[in-house]
Amino acid sequence: MKILVTGGAGYIGSHTVVELVQNGHEVVVADNLSNSNARALERVGQIVGKKIPFYQVDIRDKAGLSEMMEACADEGRRAFDCCIHFAGLKSPNESIRLPLEYYDNNITGTLVLVDVLRRYGCKNMIFSSSASVYGDPAVVPVTEECPKGQCTNPYGQTKSMLEQVLTDIQTADGEWNIVLLRYFNPLGAHRSGLIGENPSGIPNNLMPYITQVAVGKRKELNVYGDDYDTPDGTGVRDYIHVVDLACGHVKALQAIEKKCGLAVYNLGTGRGYSVLEVVKAFEEANGVKVPYVIRERRAGDVATSYSDPAKAGRELGFYARYDIVDMCRDAWNWQKNNPDGL
Ligand code: NAD
Ligand code: WQD
Repeated sequence: MKILVTGGAGYIGSHTVVELVQNGHEVVVADNLSNSNARALERVGQIVGKKIPFYQVDIRDKAGLSEMMEACADEGRRAFDCCIHFAGLKSPNESIRLPLEYYDNNITGTLVLVDVLRRYGCKNMIFSSSASVYGDPAVVPVTEECPKGQCTNPYGQTKSMLEQVLTDIQTADGEWNIVLLRYFNPLGAHRSGLIGENPSGIPNNLMPYITQVAVGKRKELNVYGDDYDTPDGTGVRDYIHVVDLACGHVKALQAIEKKCGLAVYNLGTGRGYSVLEVVKAFEEANGVKVPYVIRERRAGDVATSYSDPAKAGRELGFYARYDIVDMCRDAWNWQKNNPDGL
């Protein structure tokens, strides 16, 4: 398929472009580089052995997107078979300070994108949603049927609202096929060490913080709370290797090809690990110490969240192949080869 990847220079997007190209798809990337670097796409090119066509464009820019569509369209003015839509701002913390920026970027951006796509004959989309739409899950493992919960920040709200917006668009026009993928917690990097996660400033997420402690950039890890109702008191999450997550998108294209209408899948491993288990796995996998201190709970965190991944297994043939040791090894390989990112 000919696929438009928005946000394709970012963490999950760049890994997905690799898997798409390696599975024979033709890819064009659109990204405004607000949280990434064009060098990521050069690295992707190195991995797959060909240059990735790239447009530096903001998804809120209708004229810019239309220009790109014109350049990519065939005689029938069809530009793409499917759009995999990663572009968005993604920090829950930051979104509490900058709600307007988050609603504008994520919601306005998606509305403009969808409108331009349909004008150029593309009514197929795979959307990056998040386990955060479940809020504090009523039961674990979380199935797709679990009711959506109260999101504790504007970022989560944008994902939840966009799921509804895309559902309404599909309901009104059955020509649309839309797959909502609810990611659990992606970790790790490509085995080559050429691409990986590159947060600017102080990392919010656990693994980039751990690797920055390990590489000597930060003194110690803050473990947010050890009094949760979990086996060792620290928060439990479903960490999934970013390459597995990327492969999940290749699998989701099959649902699009089968004209799924609207489909929702969790992408996770189904196994939860506590913060201290991740620290231990990292130390054992890499032979590096990660000093830590226990701090207060972080506002908005839930005790436990892990997926029931059975639906994606059953319907898409998606199974995570990598375990927590692979994730820790690959995250460290990336960080130590690229201490300052790209
Ligand atoms: P990322 O920040 O690395 O990638 C997002 C990319 O989108 C960046 O390259 C950024 O420059 C680009 N972008 C942002 N706004 C844009 C705009 N208006 N126009 C064009 N490009 C724009 O983030 P990621 O971790 O790769 O996440 C990808 C998607 O997956 C996001 O939608 C995110 O919300 C979602 N998601 C991420 C996680 C996670 O833990 N990383 C979990 C669940 C869902
Ligand atoms: C994991 C665990 C923390 C950092 C967030 C978003 C979610 C999704 C994924 C985008 C928790 C603990 C963390 C640290 C710590 N992103 N922790 N010290 O919060 O599950 O999910 O990223 O969609 O929407 O909310 O991931 O990596 O921040 O935290 O102890 O320095 O690690 O308390 O238990 P989270 P995380």
